[in-house]
Amino acid sequence: MRPETTPEKIQELQNAAAAAAKNAYAPYSGFRVGAALLFDDGSMVTGCNVENISYGLTICAERAALVRAISESAAQRRIVAVVITNLNGAASPPCGACRQMLGEFVAEDAVVYFANGQGGTRAVPFAELLPYGFSDWKNNASC
Ligand code: THU
Repeated sequence: MRPETTPEKIQELQNAAAAAAKNAYAPYSGFRVGAALLFDDGSMVTGCNVENISYGLTICAERAALVRAISESAAQRRIVAVVITNLNGAASPPCGACRQMLGEFVAEDAVVYFANGQGGTRAVPFAELLPYGFSDWKNNASC
């Protein structure tokens, strides 16, 4: 059953994201990010950023969570909420690459909750974060 995104549920996801951020491997930037994805079947999957000395190979927390989720139980589930936080007290909206990757698995009305850098949270519909995202050109997607 599709879970309700009550304030309590979002708080639970934020706690889970913060716990994941503690596992971040970020020796180069020092920016420790955690993400929690809530799926339409009520399941939740977390991830943290994993950096690499070659820098460009770094994977963000959101994509780490996403590939973990797909690996664990196929791609049928839809994401209804994405929660992102960090241990640095900074704002952490998802980067463009993460928006594009998440776009393939979000429900139409998915909402992204991210730290606003002032101790609060910003909630933005995914559709507003990725207008005109690249999509399925083979099936006549139109803009
Ligand atoms: N990072 C994320 O984990 N998520 C984002 O959406 C943006 C950036 C990470 C990547 C890198 O390890 C660190 O933040 C600094 O860019």
